[in-house]
Amino acid sequence: MIEIHPAKPSDAAVLSELSRRTFIETFAQFNSPDNMNIYLNDAFSEEKQLAEIEDRKRQIYIAWNTKEAIGFFHLFHGSADAAVKGDNPIELLRLYVVSAWHGKGVAQALMNHCLELCRQGGYKTLWLGVWESNFRAQTFYRKYSFIWVGQHIFKLGHDEQIDLIFAKDL
Ligand SMILES: CC(C)(COP(=O)(O)OP(=O)(O)OC[C@H]1O[C@@H](n2cnc3c(N)ncnc32)[C@H](O)[C@@H]1OP(=O)(O)O)[C@@H](O)C(=O)NCCC(=O)NCCS
Repeated sequence: MIEIHPAKPSDAAVLSELSRRTFIETFAQFNSPDNMNIYLNDAFSEEKQLAEIEDRKRQIYIAWNTKEAIGFFHLFHGSADAAVKGDNPIELLRLYVVSAWHGKGVAQALMNHCLELCRQGGYKTLWLGVWESNFRAQTFYRKYSFIWVGQHIFKLGHDEQIDLIFAKDL
């Protein structure tokens, strides 16, 4: 049975490994090893994951299949992209599921949990950036009525890429 729980400080190593694994599964085929390594080492070290778990502006939840971590989402209450016009916004910074669990409802369970949490927190708008060529993720978000509102640059190592900004009313 899949269970979703808030990440605890003791999950930092698991979250670091899960984040690296899912990022590599998703993006290694499209990027140079150098650019991947710069990003992975900066974003997903255990120390950084621990700091993010403990950061009160963030809410990180992990999906577990018994003792195996198989996906997570990461909400960040920071400043919204200028393209986001809705009231009281919050960013879905990451939503990743290990590839063996794609198409099996884990992403839906995470998204439903995320939406519920945002509504309980009084947020009115959920927004995110998604790589312009990540068509599976875009299809997934559109099923939840996210709409395109703009774009911005996402730097992966030395490479500047275009992320589409999607947003939805909550
Ligand atoms: C994005 C993600 C969370 C979605 O979860 P999932 O379990 O794959 O989602 P689903 O299978 O329910 O939905 C994906 C939809 O895209 C469709 N799809 C699959 N490949 C596709 C492609 N290449 N182009 C367009 N649509 C595609 C699927 O058919 C499905 O649509 P359907 O339900 O109408 O059949 C998951 O794929 C994932 O973790 N990907 C890697 C990480 C990632 O990209 N995260 C988002 C970063 S912004």
